[in-house]
Amino acid sequence: MNHPAIPELKAAIPELAGAAWSGVGLSRKHESAELHVLGQATYTDDIPELQGTLHAALGLSTKAHANITAMDLEPVKNSPGVVAVFTATDIPGVNDMGPIIHDDPILSPGLVQYVGQPIFVVVADTHTNARRAARKAVITYDELPAIFTPQQAKAAGSYVLPPMKLLKGDAQAAFERAPRKVKGELFVGGQEQFYLEGQISYAIPKENRGMFVQCSTQHPSEMLHLVAHALGLNSHNVTVECRRMGGGFGGKESQSALWAICASLAAFKLKVPVKLRADRDDDMIVTGKRHCFFYEYEVGYDDAGRIVAAKVDMTSRAGYSADLSGPVATRAICHFDNCYYLSDADIRAGAGKTNTQSNTAFRGFGGPQGAIAMEYIIDEIARELGKDALDIRRLNFYGTDERNVTPYGQLVEGNVLPELTARLEATSEYRARREAIEKFNATSPVLKKGLAFTPLKFGIAFNVTHLNQAGALVHVYVDGSVLVNHGGTEMGQGVNTKVMQVVAHELGLDMCHVRITATDTSKVANTSATAASTGADLNGKAAQDAARQIKERLAKFAVEQHGGDVASVRFEDDHVHVNGQAIRWHVLVGQAYLKRVQLWSDGFYATPHLSWDPKSMNGHPFSYYAFGAAVSEVIVDTLTGEWRLLRADALYDAGKSLNPAIDIGQVEGAFIQGMGWLTTEQLWWNANGKLMTHAPSTYKIPGISDCPGDFRVNLFEQPNVADSIHRSKAVGEPPLLLPFSVFFAIRDAISAVGNHQVNPPLNAPATSEEILRAIDAVTAKVAN
Ligand code: MTE
Ligand code: HPA
Ligand code: MOS
Repeated sequence: MNHPAIPELKAAIPELAGAAWSGVGLSRKHESAELHVLGQATYTDDIPELQGTLHAALGLSTKAHANITAMDLEPVKNSPGVVAVFTATDIPGVNDMGPIIHDDPILSPGLVQYVGQPIFVVVADTHTNARRAARKAVITYDELPAIFTPQQAKAAGSYVLPPMKLLKGDAQAAFERAPRKVKGELFVGGQEQFYLEGQISYAIPKENRGMFVQCSTQHPSEMLHLVAHALGLNSHNVTVECRRMGGGFGGKESQSALWAICASLAAFKLKVPVKLRADRDDDMIVTGKRHCFFYEYEVGYDDAGRIVAAKVDMTSRAGYSADLSGPVATRAICHFDNCYYLSDADIRAGAGKTNTQSNTAFRGFGGPQGAIAMEYIIDEIARELGKDALDIRRLNFYGTDERNVTPYGQLVEGNVLPELTARLEATSEYRARREAIEKFNATSPVLKKGLAFTPLKFGIAFNVTHLNQAGALVHVYVDGSVLVNHGGTEMGQGVNTKVMQVVAHELGLDMCHVRITATDTSKVANTSATAASTGADLNGKAAQDAARQIKERLAKFAVEQHGGDVASVRFEDDHVHVNGQAIRWHVLVGQAYLKRVQLWSDGFYATPHLSWDPKSMNGHPFSYYAFGAAVSEVIVDTLTGEWRLLRADALYDAGKSLNPAIDIGQVEGAFIQGMGWLTTEQLWWNANGKLMTHAPSTYKIPGISDCPGDFRVNLFEQPNVADSIHRSKAVGEPPLLLPFSVFFAIRDAISAVGNHQVNPPLNAPATSEEILRAIDAVTAKVAN
């Protein structure tokens, strides 16, 4: 890489002219950008295979709920290239991979609970031979009744965990007193993570019961833990490494475990390296997705449109096991309020046990599912009152000095929404476009346009308090180059780039002197998942802590050598400035080494001020809130249900952004991904419970041509009120709520068919079929 010299850089970047050179706050390119473009970035499947490597595949259940009465694996064993077959009884340790609740067998112990549940692992000389062999088992089942939908689960009282509730005030009494009421039901579908790189693990046995696992995972420490448990090993026998993922989106937070364990089991038994790579169909059939939610709501409001009582009962489709469904439900409950003050609320969530994949984390982690219900309700209230939905939203916003406590008791601090909303309302020309759209619709009987403004508030921190910790190691070598290792994992979101910026800034170095290595459980132990959008917040602080310790030692050393006082030593421009002298960084480092100064350090961070009582569902679960808003304009063909997003404006509160280019990329990506969730991505199981949408041929994620031609994404650059890393805010998940504006713009266009007289009943995803159904419902109601 050819970096300009610092004085030239300062001259070229206006923000830097006159300011101390800084590694943070600049739009630095992704640390692997060149490697990505050149095809030189190593993903797990690109790691050169060791001699003798074998390949595994999984044998899957074809029944949704059944007891296995007989299993003939001889045809599998006799299939070309097959070396071995392993079933549940071959697991030396515990047959469980549940991350929280231990209800999740690795391989079926005899009961199968969904179509796609792994029953055995077959190991062969090639990937194709293993996959072919896996299909040859002859399994006899005794079928049991199955439950597929959250509605069925609720009716049957079938849950993976006891349902939760958050009560504030007296919602029932307030509802009864309310002058106006809305009641209804809503269904919002799930979503496949569709990481471009599928699930994969490569396990290499090491001496003395050691196991080294290269795994595409957001959570190397959990993989270590589960591999050790399954194999009956101590944690120190297992090392898990991940250089990068080709996307995770929550799907590799817990569910990389199956692949890591099965590869390790085979490698452990056969004492050779074993790779397990899921092909796309198996990946989609086997692994969990975003939870779909079914809602029943009753909300009371006054004549102005202010909510006075809110009751909601949400049921998710958890699948056959708990996985992360508990914390997902908690986050849904804690995001039902979205941006709105609720004086009296009764918010319930149950994780329905169904005979489907075990649903898991997906960008937003229940937050989007909680908030969309409230947005749907506000949209209904606005239509009932014949008012612009933005006005009803604003009326219900959290206040800054009053009406500023969430139903779970956390004060909403640093609320930038009023200002952010005003800015976006102006820059998007919301009011003028509303008028223009009304005019357009008045003379356009078939094509209808729609417009919507939706805001977001998202709580940042793991909602399980102890997970909010991170560690890092910073090594300074004698030549002055710096190597950083931290507990976060890179999935394309740029956590490594941000951590590099933080370390470079702390040491006053150009980023080209800093390198980050693969996440490795033998370097930083007991790490949390890179999840809950906290990657840079946690690991950035930990790396900063490590760099500061090195800096302190070097400052002390510099003063010993050159005089002056420690407090006025500055690390800037690749130099150490001490007592009027500027010593080149690597020179001082070399001198310090000879004087036996420790040139590396560990660092640690634990987010302060967090608390949570799961019983009362009260506390201070979040470190701070991120805000944002978007305006979307769509055009809908009311005869075919086809539509296009004409323009989208998004404004996101990234605090004082660590890297605006990366953050804008995150906002754009989350917007389009969330739009796919709410419009075209439909998961469909047949009557036997088989997921039929298990490939891109039948499961439609957005393509480049689905992006709006006019897409205006901006950051609302204001420092975080919380003491986050350089006052930045997390960006990974919250912008997934921005495309609510697309969904409600579609609903607005449908509503135009009935001249906005009736509320269109629109579930998500708003596929063309769903749009036509809603249009029919509107026309039928208007005709009456
Ligand atoms: N961006 C890319 N490119 N790929 C991903 O897999 N995952 C998202 C988000 N952005 C993801 C992504 C999810 S679900 C989370 S929780 C965060 O990134 C995790 O990374 P962070 O905490 O470092 O933001
Ligand atoms: N997000 C992601 N993963 C989690 C969370 C969360 O809020 N809580 C526990 N695991
Ligand atoms: Mo993100 S759903 O927290 O991995």
